[in-house]
Amino acid sequence: MTVHYFESLDSTNTYAKKLAAEGAPHGTVIIADHQTAGRGRLGRSFHSPAGSGIYLSVILRPNRKPDALMHLTCAVGVAMCDAVEKAFDFRPGIKWINDLVVGNRKLGGILTELSVAATGVVDYAVVGIGINCNQVDFPKDIAHIACSAATVLGKAVDRQRLIDGLLQELEVMSDRLLTQQADIMEQYRQDCVTLGKAVKVLRSDICRTGTALKVLDDGALLVRFDNGTTEAVNSGEVSVRGLWDYC
Ligand code: BTN
Repeated sequence: MTVHYFESLDSTNTYAKKLAAEGAPHGTVIIADHQTAGRGRLGRSFHSPAGSGIYLSVILRPNRKPDALMHLTCAVGVAMCDAVEKAFDFRPGIKWINDLVVGNRKLGGILTELSVAATGVVDYAVVGIGINCNQVDFPKDIAHIACSAATVLGKAVDRQRLIDGLLQELEVMSDRLLTQQADIMEQYRQDCVTLGKAVKVLRSDICRTGTALKVLDDGALLVRFDNGTTEAVNSGEVSVRGLWDYC
């Protein structure tokens, strides 16, 4: 793995996509101490202050069609939980599909972006990881739903220890991704705090309520809606929230 460190970038994902388009190899990692325009799923922003969080993107070239990579974000979520547990002795949960949580608060997130070649095969995937480590003060709009490893443990943590662990777990994840999908997804189901909960599913402006039943092997969330229908919801343009809380 080649790791490029930066003091500040707009977004490590944006930079990684540029490097990938220029031919950077599988396993290239971009880390920034600070992002000026950190991005989350569904066009949201990701608060990325200096000196306190982990903002990291990795370029993968799995040489498969997108259909075979639907579980990639789930695999990264499990790798992040493993890394946090090994570094800091607590295991976060996962709010489907891409948020690491502790209790009802968000610890981190994943932004996966694919570029598909004309052949239909994925040219590259950029997996972006953000984890709040030493933040104790959050902006007002997220203060009630965010946490960091430091707020969970009540003390400052060693950010580099988690970066080192994450890089190791990402390498293991990338080796297992295509051959051990069922095992990875079994662990994801154990970590996923959304299962069994009442959820709101937001697509465009339409909000439906139901119960989260299962995560399928491709990462889709099976929801039984209150009108009695059951549907596999894909992460693409859908946001899932608890009925009363963030999770
Ligand atoms: C989300 O909350 O929906 C996902 C957040 C992902 C944030 C990480 S930080 C590193 C990488 N660069 C970005 O701009 N986003 C991801």
